[in-house]
Amino acid sequence: MKSLVLGVHHITLCPGGAQQDIDFFTQVLGQRLVKQTVLMDGNIPIYHFYYGNADADVGSIATCFPYSRKPGHAGSGQLSCTSYTVPNGAIAFWKEHFNRHRAEHSGVQERFGTKYLRVRHPVGLLFEMIEESGDTRNPWTTSEVPRDAGTRGFFGAVLSVRDVREQESFFVDALGFRKVGVDGPYHRFEVPGAGPGRIVDLHVEPEREAGSWGFGAGTAHHIAFNVETDEALVKQKAVYEELGFTDASEIKDRFYFHSMYVRSPGGILVECTANVPGGFFKDEAPDELGTTLLLPPWFEDQRAAIVSQLEPITVPEANRPKPGTTQAPAPAAGAHAAPAGEPAVPLSRYKATFGADKQTT
Ligand SMILES: [Fe+2]
Repeated sequence: MKSLVLGVHHITLCPGGAQQDIDFFTQVLGQRLVKQTVLMDGNIPIYHFYYGNADADVGSIATCFPYSRKPGHAGSGQLSCTSYTVPNGAIAFWKEHFNRHRAEHSGVQERFGTKYLRVRHPVGLLFEMIEESGDTRNPWTTSEVPRDAGTRGFFGAVLSVRDVREQESFFVDALGFRKVGVDGPYHRFEVPGAGPGRIVDLHVEPEREAGSWGFGAGTAHHIAFNVETDEALVKQKAVYEELGFTDASEIKDRFYFHSMYVRSPGGILVECTANVPGGFFKDEAPDELGTTLLLPPWFEDQRAAIVSQLEPITVPEANRPKPGTTQAPAPAAGAHAAPAGEPAVPLSRYKATFGADKQTT
């Protein structure tokens, strides 16, 4: 079966404080804040930040719900590390850079014959820089992170599981990955095809306690894989159901893309995502990405109640690109999809009520 999945689309994490998260991503990881919006489920306003490379490419986007309301429990059955590609030789830069920021890091490590360096977010989340040549995606640069060291986008992710067998079967049979190797406790899977961001490493940790599944500061919430169209999402849902994974969600309208979720056997929540025309550029000029809070149209009438309950944040002026450093967005995948108002497949939207009076924290 040809895989419907093309690679990683985004990875979603729960940090704690909003400003702390912006500072870590933009200054320590050298990412560009490309979107400020809010969580589209539930009745409590929670920011949703998107960070990516210079061109906000699919496959470079870490999305964050700053969830200071409640700590999560990191453990197995979760995504345990978000992996970025950096050029060969760049690890030495990142080690110095993390030292300069007094960010806790692992020192240079190696798996599958490739060097990497892990760093810890102040809330506990782990990220790693993995050296790989030939990734031509456009890195975001900062006053501290030069072009020859900046992250290109995702290499992939590490998922912690207590037992590999059922999670392996899910990736191979339900998502179309192939197994490409084992290195100690790490089992590597890859989406067939070309291009970056197609790797998932299962880290087998039989003794590790199960992590929390819901939102909670310090934990990853889910990983999302890119499929081409809404029709592919429908097909992927049918694949799940044919295999017996009957708890796949309806297809949700996330405004910038459409999403369908399923809980995988190892415990990790897996999303499949189809782009909509315009993607992250549909409501913001390329040079303005991430500079203001944007809401989906069905939340706009509650903007005042939402904003009154969110932590005030400052986006660094350096978040605006210098002329010529970013590319005009490419035509969105899925551009043949039906125009707004006529979804090609039924879409679910949650119409929240953000009453300011019930906010307690
Ligand atoms: Fe997601």
